[in-house]
Amino acid sequence: MKDTPFVTHGLKFRWINAQCFEFQFSNGKTLLTDPYFDVPERFKEGVGMSLMNFHVEDIEQVDYVFVNHTHGDHIANLQQVCDRFSPTVICHSAVAMEIAKTHVVPLTSIYPVDFNGRYYFDGFSLDTYHGTHHKNPSSYEEAKAFTMQDGDNELGVMGSIFNVNFILNLPEGLRIAFVGGNDDGMTERFQEIRPNILIRNKMGSSRDFDRVAERFADIFAKSSTQMLIPMHCETWVNERPEFLDGVIRDMNQIMEEKGLLGRAKLLERTKWHYLDLVISEA
Ligand SMILES: [Fe+2]
Repeated sequence: MKDTPFVTHGLKFRWINAQCFEFQFSNGKTLLTDPYFDVPERFKEGVGMSLMNFHVEDIEQVDYVFVNHTHGDHIANLQQVCDRFSPTVICHSAVAMEIAKTHVVPLTSIYPVDFNGRYYFDGFSLDTYHGTHHKNPSSYEEAKAFTMQDGDNELGVMGSIFNVNFILNLPEGLRIAFVGGNDDGMTERFQEIRPNILIRNKMGSSRDFDRVAERFADIFAKSSTQMLIPMHCETWVNERPEFLDGVIRDMNQIMEEKGLLGRAKLLERTKWHYLDLVISEA
């Protein structure tokens, strides 16, 4: 009879929607990224990408929020999360003041960060990196018009300019890379950082169908990580699930053909998962 696998939980986490992930650390603290799940019906474009059956009440605890960039589909539910949990809001220093102006949040709960810094929190630390948004032709006025919130949308403009990627470091030694837009040298940095997991937006917008699996697999192969969890592909989950399944399948085939251990898996939205270290009998 085989031994039962020896498992220790490194982290509990789930993909909620878009770039919204929830991480629960060993000390019980939680980090939520880019809060966007449901938006009011009047913001039609946002509704299509949102998760209408998931609400802020479905989240139990948020101690920290991290904002990768300030487009509507990354901060539409930020106010609700702040109202309910009073978290520390970690964002780039260039957008901190505009978040203060447009959100009802204690000023001392806003935690500005800059590029290439290490920031220490209760139960984890974050290394921050300069990110850029996927190419988008919107001008100032056009970006301002694309909004999922009432009132002035200067944050929507800033979202195209200021993007922050991060490595999440856990006391147990796990390193989780979170990359939103373009590569911006992250795969090169990974040669040194060696993250265990890469949580990554796809390589272009949801309307970009050009060699999706190949481009995604290429960056995955170069990153030398063992697991890739795609994010911000909710439009494909909703509208083209078979295409998305094919992308993941093709990526994994490319990795196998290259003789690399890394594999990609799409997580089911809102379901909790463990990132474990496992020893099992061969
Ligand atoms: Fe964006």
